[in-house]
Amino acid sequence: GADVEVDISGIQPGQLIRVMWRSKPVWVVRRTPETLAGLEKHEGQLKDPNSEAEQQPGFAQNRYRSLKEEYLILVGICTHLGCSPQHLKDGAFEEIVEGVPNGFFCPCHGSKFDMAGRVFENVPAPLNLVVPPYQFVDDKTVIIG
Ligand code: FES
Repeated sequence: GADVEVDISGIQPGQLIRVMWRSKPVWVVRRTPETLAGLEKHEGQLKDPNSEAEQQPGFAQNRYRSLKEEYLILVGICTHLGCSPQHLKDGAFEEIVEGVPNGFFCPCHGSKFDMAGRVFENVPAPLNLVVPPYQFVDDKTVIIG
């Protein structure tokens, strides 16, 4: 079928892997404890911190937007006009948003997203990045779809 099984056992802390699901790029990111702890610090700069503006899986309507906090799974398509945002990490995102070391930056028109895929204010993207439907089969296997 159209569902994709992903082995997440080899993803290192801080790493992002890409898979294709229904012709769309999907990212699986293993977030570090530091990244998870940082998610609340910049919530005042987000358009929609609890993902209330769109249809999302219920588990995505909160700070972490994931079934397991450690693993963030997103459709890697900007919600503005569909470009592919870049993953900026290890402090590189601080050049985009002061005090936020990691995030996603869309080079097309400058939209910015945090490590839960939540869009920052004052950018053209209207919505948070989309969380696809998925489920964990076991500790190291996710099915997207
Ligand atoms: Fe990403 Fe326009 S397509 S900011």
